[in-house]
Amino acid sequence: MHVHRFERLWFAASLVLIVAFLGTIVYGAVGPGVAMVDDSGGTVEPSVIANGDYEAADNFREPGVYDTESGVDVYVVARQYLFQPGTTEPIRVPAGEPVTFHVTSPDVTHGFNLAGTNVNSMVIPGQVAEFTVTFEETDEHGIVCHEYCGSGHHTMEGKVVVVE
Ligand code: CUA
Repeated sequence: MHVHRFERLWFAASLVLIVAFLGTIVYGAVGPGVAMVDDSGGTVEPSVIANGDYEAADNFREPGVYDTESGVDVYVVARQYLFQPGTTEPIRVPAGEPVTFHVTSPDVTHGFNLAGTNVNSMVIPGQVAEFTVTFEETDEHGIVCHEYCGSGHHTMEGKVVVVE
């Protein structure tokens, strides 16, 4: 049977593509992977957060701002459709000191993006996203959820106020 030269070429090209696609799947499963979220904050049972049973959580505290020796720790719950704290009351943090955010979700995947900064993380149920930032100047930064999380996604926002 005669197979046209271009047909053979396309056939070979499609085989290469199939092998390449399989390769990306294998790489994603067993390779070093790409960190979509900083999971250095550890894990926490989503139901513990949903029930507000913060005493039972090893890696999470009641949402709020806590002084540390070098700066502050901020614990935030991202849930449909607010940041707690952040939405009903702004998160107040000091300028010039390291601010470590610990963010988790009891329901679905959310995003935590601080407008005007490079702070940007996914917030995944069961994981505590942890990241440290030092705000050099007093300012206000909007918190934006950048992962579609349901019908109220577009309303899910908050505010960080950097004070003296
Ligand atoms: Cu939370 Cu989108």
